[in-house]
Amino acid sequence: MSNEIDKLKDAILKKGNLPTHVAIIMDGNGRWAKRRGLPRIAGHKAGVKAVKRVVEAAGELGISILTLFTFSHENWKRPKQEVSAIMKLLYETTKREINELDKNNVKLITTGRIEELSPQRRDILEKAREQTKDNTGLILNLALNYGGRTEILDAVKLIAREVKQGKLDIDDLNEENFAKYLYTNGLPDPDLLIRTSGEKRISNFLLWQTSYTELYITDVLWPNFTAKDFYEAIWDYQNRERRFGRV
Ligand code: IPE
Ligand code: IPE
Ligand code: MG
Repeated sequence: MSNEIDKLKDAILKKGNLPTHVAIIMDGNGRWAKRRGLPRIAGHKAGVKAVKRVVEAAGELGISILTLFTFSHENWKRPKQEVSAIMKLLYETTKREINELDKNNVKLITTGRIEELSPQRRDILEKAREQTKDNTGLILNLALNYGGRTEILDAVKLIAREVKQGKLDIDDLNEENFAKYLYTNGLPDPDLLIRTSGEKRISNFLLWQTSYTELYITDVLWPNFTAKDFYEAIWDYQNRERRFGRV
């Protein structure tokens, strides 16, 4: 088994055209728990272990950026109890894992309306970001309180304000500088988007940024997602032809 993984890893590294930026819609925690007759939060807890596996696997391959859809702007609509359990899990995990991530040269950043999270919780994330800001390994980007449409709207508001203040000439606006107003300012677009648990939708994730991203959908539920599953997605990506509208 581990031999099989090593072979796949070697093949990936030999092939060479690694995706720079991989984004993942980590879906299926609830279904994983339901199938075991467990409460949904047990699925989220098991999901954290999958996050650890994938962060490690991405680091080993030398992937530059891993964006994980951790909590959507729309996820606030879930039962209050589930929302607070997810938040608690998120902050506890960040606190517990940050030194290990730091030691592994991981740089933690966030994407989304972080300012809407409670101050003491936000503080944990800000400290984590500060602690790892000079690291040069994997960029681990947590999409948190993230919604693609809100992101575009927020960008439009920023732009409108700058135009009104005379700081920006509307005719100077193009795709490149528009992207600078998005939460992901400075990050290249994802090359590969993985969605687990079989759902064939974008769910308001990185709407602007995924216009030419390769999609990979697997039926594996997120808590069951292994390093091998991750490598299989990367291998699939490496064997595709990207065209960007050309022939
Ligand atoms: C993804 O798993 C985790 C979050 C959205 C926070 P779900 O909780 O959406 O799991 P399913 O889709 O109900 O199985
Ligand atoms: C997307 O999954 C959000 C995260 C993975 C954090 P959802 O489970 O919320 O998406 P829908 O409801 O299936 O579209
Ligand atoms: Mg879901």
